Amino acid sequence: MEQTLSIIKPDAVQKHLIGEIVGRFEQSGLYPVQIKMITFSVAQAEAFYAEHLGREFYQPLIDFMTSGPSVVMVLEGNDAIKRNRQLMGVTNPDLAEPGTIRADYAESTRLNCVHGSDSAASAEREIQFFFAKH
Ligand code: CMP
Repeated sequence: MEQTLSIIKPDAVQKHLIGEIVGRFEQSGLYPVQIKMITFSVAQAEAFYAEHLGREFYQPLIDFMTSGPSVVMVLEGNDAIKRNRQLMGVTNPDLAEPGTIRADYAESTRLNCVHGSDSAASAEREIQFFFAKH
């Protein structure tokens, strides 16, 4: 079993896609084992996306991620990191495989509905970021 971090971003929450997206995960054998709804603070968004500091899309990304509630969850399943990313589709929805979440619902590279950890190291860091044991 592997774990990965998934975020349903503010655009998808606003479009009432939480159930649709979680349903796709569950139907594919990726099960939420931790879940919470949060509105990112600016400090949280800046820390989470620190690797993108200095990129032209950084500030609009921070503005977007703090614009409303997101659903943050740990998904567990076989090969969870890779399979979550397959279900999401690539960052740019115009290039995403038909039938993926981004191809079906994302408006743009920024308003792209979901985030998923891209490696085992990212998954560990991102799960710890939101669900640290105190
Ligand atoms: P995510 O998987 O959450 O990781 C970083 C985010 O930055 C990405 O999804 C997009 O929302 C955003 N992003 C990455 N590249 C671009 C880009 N070229 N233009 C706008 N937003 C981007």
